[in-house]
Amino acid sequence: MAVTIKSAREIDLMREAGRLLGMVHEELGKAIRPGMSTKDIDKIGEELIRGYGCIPSFLDYQGYPASICVSVNEEVVHGIPHADHILKEGDIVSLDAGLIYKGYHADAARTHAVGKISREAEQLIAVTKQSFFEGIKMAKAGYHLYDISNAIDAYVTAHGYGIVTALVGHGIGTRLHEDPQIPNFAQKRRGLKLRAGMTLAVEPMINMGCADVRWLDDDWTVVTEDGAYSAHYENTILITDGEPEILTLPI
Ligand code: MF3
Ligand code: CO
Repeated sequence: MAVTIKSAREIDLMREAGRLLGMVHEELGKAIRPGMSTKDIDKIGEELIRGYGCIPSFLDYQGYPASICVSVNEEVVHGIPHADHILKEGDIVSLDAGLIYKGYHADAARTHAVGKISREAEQLIAVTKQSFFEGIKMAKAGYHLYDISNAIDAYVTAHGYGIVTALVGHGIGTRLHEDPQIPNFAQKRRGLKLRAGMTLAVEPMINMGCADVRWLDDDWTVVTEDGAYSAHYENTILITDGEPEILTLPI
């Protein structure tokens, strides 16, 4: 499928979808505390999304059984919320959420500390977040798609972390996953030329140890092969002729 260029009307709808998702994440971040279950987070997230008149896009997506992907410590992404999975001080928890507003998708992820965490874990979360911002310095009309990938890779590799290659970012719009795929690791080719009106979900998934991942028997949860912590940071962005617009921030 070709990469879609959104019209001014579509961009307005994606802005509103993104703003609402940004607020969902802000509220979820405030709610995180030791003693709560990963299922509690899913419940709060689903209620927030529905409360804004939106649809949780992950629920039933290819059979995924929840509204929020909740991935703890060595879980990279797509963790399934469970009532008996209780967060404890020192954990890190990655929340990935998506919603549909008037037919348009927003997708974003954040990794949060649960209470006091180690310096090493704090740095992993900070570097993962910053790698997104390094990547989107290249997300402008006239640059090429893999300029983003290469910038993320250069920044993360300098910190000695493992970049997950099994999963990538993606275009987004009337569907959660549109073309193009956006790797978080260096590419030999330049990739397609970025144009104003493209909407992309850029989402580095970064491991404290090796880059390798495997899937748990639930067929969803992706974990690090070596058991080391992993972090995730994602926003839906709009390509413009100047700086990219980050759509999934609260206003
Ligand atoms: N946010 C994820 C992505 O960017 C989507 C999660 S798929 C789900 O691809 F099924 F787990 F919801
Ligand atoms: Co995504």
